[in-house]
Amino acid sequence: MKLWGGRFAKPTAPELEALGKSIEFDKRLGFEDIRVNRAYVHELNRVGIVDEEELALILKGLDSVEDRLRSEPDLDDEDIHTAVERLLGEVVEHHVCGKLPTGRSRNDLTATDLRLYLASAIDKCVSLLHGLQKSLLAKAMEHVDVIMPGYTHLRRGQPVVFAQYLLAYFWALDRDRERLGETKVRTLGLALGCGALAGNPFGVDRRRLAEDLGFSHVLPNSIDGVSSRDYLIEFLSIGAIVGVDLSRMAEDLILWSGTEFGFIEIDESYSTGSSLMPQKRNPDSLELVRGKSGRLSGNLVSLLTTVKALPTGYQRDLQEDKEAVFDTIDTLMLTIPAMEGVVNTFEVSRERMAAALSPDLLATDLAEYLVGKGLPFRKAHTIAGKVFATAEKRQIAPADFTLEELRTFSPEFDNSATEVWNYAASLERRDVEGGVSRRAVAEQIAKAKERL
Ligand code: ARG
Repeated sequence: MKLWGGRFAKPTAPELEALGKSIEFDKRLGFEDIRVNRAYVHELNRVGIVDEEELALILKGLDSVEDRLRSEPDLDDEDIHTAVERLLGEVVEHHVCGKLPTGRSRNDLTATDLRLYLASAIDKCVSLLHGLQKSLLAKAMEHVDVIMPGYTHLRRGQPVVFAQYLLAYFWALDRDRERLGETKVRTLGLALGCGALAGNPFGVDRRRLAEDLGFSHVLPNSIDGVSSRDYLIEFLSIGAIVGVDLSRMAEDLILWSGTEFGFIEIDESYSTGSSLMPQKRNPDSLELVRGKSGRLSGNLVSLLTTVKALPTGYQRDLQEDKEAVFDTIDTLMLTIPAMEGVVNTFEVSRERMAAALSPDLLATDLAEYLVGKGLPFRKAHTIAGKVFATAEKRQIAPADFTLEELRTFSPEFDNSATEVWNYAASLERRDVEGGVSRRAVAEQIAKAKERL
């Protein structure tokens, strides 16, 4: 069945049939399509296009179409909207069910269905992110006193606690969750009633439709309603951002779980073996999370590229929006829970983290010590740099310098200099909001708890 064809004498070329079919992927909008049809037929009844009896027949018919979508999910129509109309025509007389599409186009219908579908997918993503944040927070609370090297450029920088690392991702994901909430508001704009492009001529009340369907507002322009896809681009870009966040975290955990670092151990249930090398225990879970971030970025670029330079109004190109969106949803549904599982189950080696601490992590503290003695930081930085370079050359630890030797670098050094060589004290000095002192981390944890 076709929803058009009155002006055609020739059948559609099989190549075009194949090219144009979207049922394989848009069939997942079936239940939204039924929901939208129900609301719309009620509205047609209110404006007098459909009488009470016809309304009842169509609603009953839609119930049975819903059952059929559930029991026979294999459909061969051009798209889901065609399938629903065809199936309805099998149970409701044509002179009745033929009234359902009055004043409506697949252009406003497909946008309405997809917006509804996406809004509930956003809710699922939000709750998955919430779950992962909870796991990160719980892990952080178990490791507030585990000191480890903090890195920049993958080189040792300054001491931190493992909790601070975990919380860094808590906050990144918190912003992603916030972004999703903001996009959901824009997603819930009603396109129904825009028709093909110029609006509905039968007096339907779009506000009532919006209310019935759970939309927060009515899209104020019929051309914009059928042709805009910016809300999808927003969702895909958030998907890409989540992908990048998870990918970077995966990279750290892969590195740190390797023998060379040995900071953490990925649980066996999130590891796989090698078909050839019997000893291997590979972090495939994390590699796949990292790998799948590629397709999340790809989906964003794909839709941006499709939409760029499209003429205003509906173009069939826009049918390409769905696969990118569905793939991003599916990918997030896989990667976020997998990351949560990894976080819940990995073991932390306090010993290996402690063993990785080395005095170079305290070079900044040495400079700051001199600042405490009244030197300008630039000068203190140079002196501390010389102390460390000289120790390196002599192959000794900087803590091994005698006070006399230290004084050759700067007369400001006194007996209290030995206090610099203490990792925990370095943390405690960073007692700023967001810093790594015990108090600051506890304060951060309290804030994080509030956010959940
Ligand atoms: N399957 C189409 C889509 O997803 C429905 C809209 C078709 N509209 C049209 N004018 N051909 O975009």
